[in-house]
Amino acid sequence: MVKICCIGAGYVGGPTCAVIALKCPHIPVTIVDLNQDRIDAWNSDTLPIFEPGLQEVVTQCRGRNLFFSTAIDDAIRAADIIFVSVNTPTKKNGLGAGFAADLAYVEAATRRIAAVAQSSKIVVEKSTVPCRTAESMRRILEANSRDAIRFEILSNPEFLAEGTAIADLMQPDRILIGSLPTPEGRKAQHVLADVYAEWVPRPQIITMNLWSSELSKLAANALLAQRISSINALSAICEATGADVDEVAYACGLDSRIGPKFLKASVGFGGSCFQKDILNLVYLSESLHLPEVAQYWKQVVDLNEYQKRRFAQSVVSRLFNTITNKRLAVFGFAFKKNTGDTRESAAIAVIASFLNERAHVHIHDPEVSAAQIELELVQPGVCTQAVYDAQVHRFADPYEAAKDADAIVICTEWEQFAQLDYQRLYDSMHKPAFVFDGRLILDAPKLRQIGFQVEVIGKPAAPKPGFNA
Ligand SMILES: NC(=O)c1ccc[n+]([C@@H]2O[C@H](COP(=O)([O-])OP(=O)(O)OC[C@H]3O[C@@H](n4cnc5c(N)ncnc54)[C@H](O)[C@@H]3O)[C@@H](O)[C@H]2O)c1
Repeated sequence: MVKICCIGAGYVGGPTCAVIALKCPHIPVTIVDLNQDRIDAWNSDTLPIFEPGLQEVVTQCRGRNLFFSTAIDDAIRAADIIFVSVNTPTKKNGLGAGFAADLAYVEAATRRIAAVAQSSKIVVEKSTVPCRTAESMRRILEANSRDAIRFEILSNPEFLAEGTAIADLMQPDRILIGSLPTPEGRKAQHVLADVYAEWVPRPQIITMNLWSSELSKLAANALLAQRISSINALSAICEATGADVDEVAYACGLDSRIGPKFLKASVGFGGSCFQKDILNLVYLSESLHLPEVAQYWKQVVDLNEYQKRRFAQSVVSRLFNTITNKRLAVFGFAFKKNTGDTRESAAIAVIASFLNERAHVHIHDPEVSAAQIELELVQPGVCTQAVYDAQVHRFADPYEAAKDADAIVICTEWEQFAQLDYQRLYDSMHKPAFVFDGRLILDAPKLRQIGFQVEVIGKPAAPKPGFNA
């Protein structure tokens, strides 16, 4: 029997190891974190993250074979397999600032394992890391290991998407396990594969070399983000030509070589991963003296910035080139639907532009608290505390948020936004009342019938009859 410890009780460590505990009731799983508040929340009825289905999984296993704790050293000592699932944000200072991944948390966790382990361990890179990070971890572990203790390092990147994490974990497309091509490495690979095999069909558990596994995660995120930037680039052409981006995406997606997924135009991608991982790939390419490759991937992020800017500018220009002192109701602050995660949310950049133009921003999101909104917005490059206090308001009720507003701006594709009573919203707003749909979720013709001026990314402003209309 193996025992599992997961260092990092975040969006990845929590759900991933909770599902392992659910599917492997015979394996004790302890998830540890430095953050006492986070651990307390995992041990309470109000989990620290919102993820559909997560509460049910945790409730079923917690106290049985799933434990949340800050006793990191004890959990490391007791475990045979240790997942390192800590954050790897983009570096803010020093060499590689703005591009490279900050590996300080991975290194701290690795040093802790080396310092307290009293028996051999399989250490699993679950965090998304630059290629060859396992090499640095191995050096730290070996330089600090005592007696006959051995450490095997595996790369096991996580492909879950927030909002569908539990379904993704229950039925993953694939599980990657990378190891060094040594007998010990292969043995460790099998130990971890046996854990996943409790619920994942063997053919979907892929073993490969460590560096391929590490790079596959960065590559997958870069390819997904590239599709979003590609369709967003086309959305700008659609607006200028009268083509409809949904129709173009549909036509392209029917081609079995292309496929329909990740071809939805929008205000831009957000989240803690896509931008960070691509910038990481850009940095890696530059470090490898591959400037053309770096430039290629950098353009995916640049296009995303352009799309957010373009959307915010279209709001200003349609509102008669000024939004000073106007009220704008922003629906959605999370980076996507079905999550409360706001990291790198497109809404932040859009709202920053509105605040810079001295608009009053009324924010409504079903899952994001006022405190979280304040934390994201009172930042260098977004706004000061004084601007926040004077110009930003959070509303639990969307109808209150839109009252006396000049425009509704959709930033997140929450399904409930399509189900609101738009006649009621229209009646309470300033006229002309505008809707800017940054997620292509609303019924624009219906809104136009009510009287709204409607702007949708990638669609002609007010479709006029003509060829093929
Ligand atoms: N969020 C996603 O959708 C997603 C998907 C796939 C992969 N990833 C990757 O997984 C990793 C974790 O992401 P996340 O979203 O869960 O991050 P997160 O910030 O939600 O969680 C990380 C946790 O690690 C803890 N931590 C940091 N250093 C620690 C230490 N030394 N000891 C104990 N705890 C420590 C932090 O307190 C935090 O709670 C990142 O590398 C990310 O790129 C994220």
